[in-house]
Amino acid sequence: MGVKVKDRVALITGSGSGIGEGVAKRLSQNGAKIVINDVVQEKIDKVVADIKAAGGEAIGMNIDITKKDQVDEMFKKTVETFGRIDILVNNAGVSRDKGILKLTEEDWDFVVDINLKGQFFCCQGAIGYMREQKFGRIVNISSRAWLGGVGQANYAASKGGVVSLTRTLALELARFGINVNCICPGLIKTPLYDALTEEQVANLIKAQPMGAIGNPNDIAQGVLFFVDDDAGYVTGQVIFICGGRSLWSSLSV
Ligand SMILES: NC(=O)c1ccc[n+]([C@@H]2O[C@H](COP(=O)([O-])OP(=O)(O)OC[C@H]3O[C@@H](n4cnc5c(N)ncnc54)[C@H](O)[C@@H]3O)[C@@H](O)[C@H]2O)c1
Repeated sequence: MGVKVKDRVALITGSGSGIGEGVAKRLSQNGAKIVINDVVQEKIDKVVADIKAAGGEAIGMNIDITKKDQVDEMFKKTVETFGRIDILVNNAGVSRDKGILKLTEEDWDFVVDINLKGQFFCCQGAIGYMREQKFGRIVNISSRAWLGGVGQANYAASKGGVVSLTRTLALELARFGINVNCICPGLIKTPLYDALTEEQVANLIKAQPMGAIGNPNDIAQGVLFFVDDDAGYVTGQVIFICGGRSLWSSLSV
């Protein structure tokens, strides 16, 4: 039997490219109605057009998830358009890696605001509607890097915050039929990855137990598991989809 998400309304932040785009398309293929959020209009238009061309239903929302008023407006419009909001995938994220002494306050705020505060605003924006419906599925995208990564103090701290946010909201919302879970991707082939040099890629692949990088579909597979109508007894869980990378330290010999 396939995944049960037919006619569920799903909003995926940062879904103009990469993992978010892959997740949105897989949800659409399984019958969900899709809201594409990003801050780059051309990316939104392309993904919405792709989904419609494949026979799915989708709308775009060009808003910045670090702005609370814009986030609240996005959920209001989603519910006005589709009548409800069932699935929220908090995916939008950025990195700005530097050693701790080089990291500026601006580097810290930029990454933590998008990766953590943005998820907080989106959860708040969706939860009011989900409580009324007595149904909701939230999946927060963290990163394997929350375990620690050299030059990633801001990124790792923001992603560790996502794990704590997930576990806390799972406790607060369990009685309302809202499930909150978290996925920690390892190295995934996205535009983020395409920006790396050949040497950086070679080093990263060396640190992969499977010796390979993943793709957005690998993460979509985890999202589908968590948001399935039949996954109602699963909440507060954190899974790594990282080719085994979470099992060893980069300092291993
Ligand atoms: N690619 C990887 O190897 C990898 C590994 C671990 C975790 N992740 C996480 O997965 C998520 C997606 O990463 P990706 O590789 O697909 O990146 P990506 O850069 O391809 O996509 C992220 C999208 O978010 C959008 N975005 C940025 N700021 C935004 C804002 N303020 N509001 C709304 N949208 C915004 C960007 O325009 C972009 O389209 C991120 O949270 C990232 O930290 C990625």
